[in-house]
Formats: sequence, structure tokens, C-alpha cells
Amino acid sequence: MYERMPMKCKDLISIADLLPSDIEEIFTVTRELKEWHAKGYDEKCLNGKILGMIFEKSSMRTRVSFEVAMVQLGGHAIYLTQGDINLGKREAVKDGARVLSRYVDGIVIRTFGQETIQELARYATVPVINALSDYLHPCQALTDMYTIKEKFGTYTNVKIAYIGDGNNVARSLAQICAKLGIHFYVASPKGYELSSEFLAKAKQMAEGYDVIHLSHDPKEVAKNAQVLYTDTWVSMGQEAEKAVRQQAFRDFQINNDIVKLAKNDVKVMHCLPAHRGEEITDDVLDGPNSIVYDQAENRLHVEKALLKLLLRK
Ligand code: CP
Ligand code: NVA
Repeated sequence: MYERMPMKCKDLISIADLLPSDIEEIFTVTRELKEWHAKGYDEKCLNGKILGMIFEKSSMRTRVSFEVAMVQLGGHAIYLTQGDINLGKREAVKDGARVLSRYVDGIVIRTFGQETIQELARYATVPVINALSDYLHPCQALTDMYTIKEKFGTYTNVKIAYIGDGNNVARSLAQICAKLGIHFYVASPKGYELSSEFLAKAKQMAEGYDVIHLSHDPKEVAKNAQVLYTDTWVSMGQEAEKAVRQQAFRDFQINNDIVKLAKNDVKVMHCLPAHRGEEITDDVLDGPNSIVYDQAENRLHVEKALLKLLLRK
């Protein structure tokens, strides 16, 4: 059991910055907020607070869940697209960070480079939350692990198998597994694996233990899995590689043959949006093992907890 203690970090840029106790604290607050919401009560702990939301890529879940989260907690959100502020082009990222900090109480940003988010956080005096970069998707990983804990009652010794690209979603999942000491099995095509540099850092996060296990065989990782996870083969920004990627990933689909290799009651997860017939089949996504919509709903509850913990400071 972790003792409840306030999160020390100002921002949520990467799971790497969190202590295991921070993750547990986020989960505890998430559970409380979710239970209260189900009973018809939303604590207005962010009354009068304003969140700036910079989105340089498309989004449905992240954009809507953060906006709804702010309203439910008594605050307000301002959606800012690249066309509105043109951060880094119309003006330097550090100027944007300094000025936005004079207006808003927190900033959510979805962009391409992780370094843009780091620079924004360095110069912003208000909390900055990474809503996805090419490199990481920490809000997704927190939600995924919360959902696993909710479904299994624990995440300890749950076999999680990820089949697909060693991308932003896979990296953040690997990081949260490393932080919590959970074994994470990843099957990717050659050339699309998590890098050895990334794995070395993840090992440090796992206090020297090898908890990330790479394979090129989806069947091998799927055996006895309790969670099967996948994501798109072509992330935002990789559209030009679509044909090459579709070819490279054609044997890395979660379908009924893969589900049969896993435990009977395996939970199938996907961060969404899904590309039906590519990384996952219709029958699996719509089938009894799929928990993707509960997972998507939990984005809201987890982000409410994050906003409560970060913006109230
Ligand atoms: N999973 C996720 O981040 O979805 P959106 O891209 O729709 O925000
Ligand atoms: N890997 C995907 C995740 C979308 C939520 C992307 O970056 O497009």
C-alpha cells in the first residue's frame, strides 16, 4: 500500500517524472471522483479555474474529456488550434508559455515534438499536461493502468501483451509498467520495436529489472495474456508511410485467433481511434472481451483527477 501524498511535480510531461506513489494517488482520486460522479455529485474544486488546450493534431477523446472534466469540476476550458496561436511559428514557444501563464491556470498540449512540450513546461509558470506527442501519451497510459486495476482489482502479476507499433502509446505503457514493476510483453515487426535506448531508460525506471520483453511474434506474446492491447499502425504525422506500414504490420492484428491464445477472459484494449480490419477486427472490437469503451470513459475520470491534483496547487 502506498501512503497518500501530494504529487511533487508541477507538470505531467511523461510517466517517467512520476513516482509510483503519484500514480497511486492519481488512481485513488480518480476512483473517488468517478464514484461521486456516478452518484450525481461533482466536486467543484476547480471553481473559476481556466485551462488552455493547445491542439496541433486531431483529437476526439482527449479534447472532449479534458473540456468536460473542467466543466464538471467547476472550471472552463479554451480550445486553441494551431490556426489560432501557431505556437513556435507566430511566436517563440517560451513567449507563448509566459503569456498563456498570465491568463490560464493550466495548459494541455497535443503536438508533434516532445521537446516542444518540455520547452512549454520549462517556461510556463502553470502546470502543463502532455495530451500526446509523437513520443509519449501519458494520460492514455494512466487511464489504461487505472482501467486494468478497475477490471482485475490489481495490476500486480497481470500479463499485459501489446501487439503493434513501438509508438507513443506503447512507450507510455512501457513506462508505467516499468514504474509499477509490471511485466510488459510487446510484439512488433522488425524495425518498429521500442528502441534499445528507450529500453535502457525503462530498466532504470524499474530499478534495474527487465520488465519490458520484446518479440517479433504476436502469437508468442498473446499466450495466456490477460490483457491484449493494440494501437493504430499509422500514427498521426506518419500518413506518408501508410502503405509501407500496412504491409509491415499485416501479421500484427488482434483477431479471434490471437484472442484464443490468451486467457479465456482476456480483456482487449485499444486507445482508439481504431482502424477496423487493420490492427483489430470488428468481431474482437465489438466482442465480449473488448473493454475499449470503458477504457475511453476512464480518460475523463483520470483527467479530472490529474486536473484536481495539478491545478489546485
Ligand atoms: N486515445 C486518444 O487520445 O484519442 P483522441 O486522439 O481522439 O484524443
Ligand atoms: N499512436 C496514435 C495514438 C492516437 C491516440 C497516434 O499518435 O496517432
